[in-house]
Amino acid sequence: MRAAQIEADLSRVLVTEEEIYAKLIELAAQVAADYEGKELLLVGVLKGAVMVMADFARALPRHVETDWMAVSSYGAGTRSSGVVQIRKDLDTDIHGKHVLIVEDIIDSGLTLSWLLENFAIRGAESVEVLALLRKPDAAKVHVECRYVGFDIPNEFVVGYGLDYAEKYRNLRDVAVLAPHVYS
Ligand code: PRP
Repeated sequence: MRAAQIEADLSRVLVTEEEIYAKLIELAAQVAADYEGKELLLVGVLKGAVMVMADFARALPRHVETDWMAVSSYGAGTRSSGVVQIRKDLDTDIHGKHVLIVEDIIDSGLTLSWLLENFAIRGAESVEVLALLRKPDAAKVHVECRYVGFDIPNEFVVGYGLDYAEKYRNLRDVAVLAPHVYS
């Protein structure tokens, strides 16, 4: 669905589907150049990264392997708890591999900071991060993110994989959720 079809639930659109695709093509070209001659494993972080992983992987003009991990950081609320728990681990042994973690959003940074440490312990050759969205004002820890799509304000956003209580993931655009929906 598009933002216009659920406009009563949204305060405003932050990034349109068209802007997302254009950005992913730009990032894909950068990644292809940076990893030329190297094998690359994309790790998507479920469930939010499903859309960005699907579109980014297809925008890449080269071969790539994919794997998934599921961790939980906030449950059904709108605030990060700092508690990170593995709900689904990788199927791949990442020892010696070049890994690019694909995320929908960096909010507090707690999830990624934990994942980066965890992947380093597993002996990855390199670990970098691609995040479609980042909220600089919400950062609780600094996370090195090599590829960022859009820096956005510290508001509750949904769409393009991002949910509120499991809804809105199928919104094609990224939008600010209207406060009446969650208060
Ligand atoms: C979201 C998002 C990131 C994380 C970012 O996932 O997909 O993984 O939170 O937040 P942080 O920077 O504050 O750690 P969530 O735990 O909501 O799970 P989901 O992807 O299944 O919606």
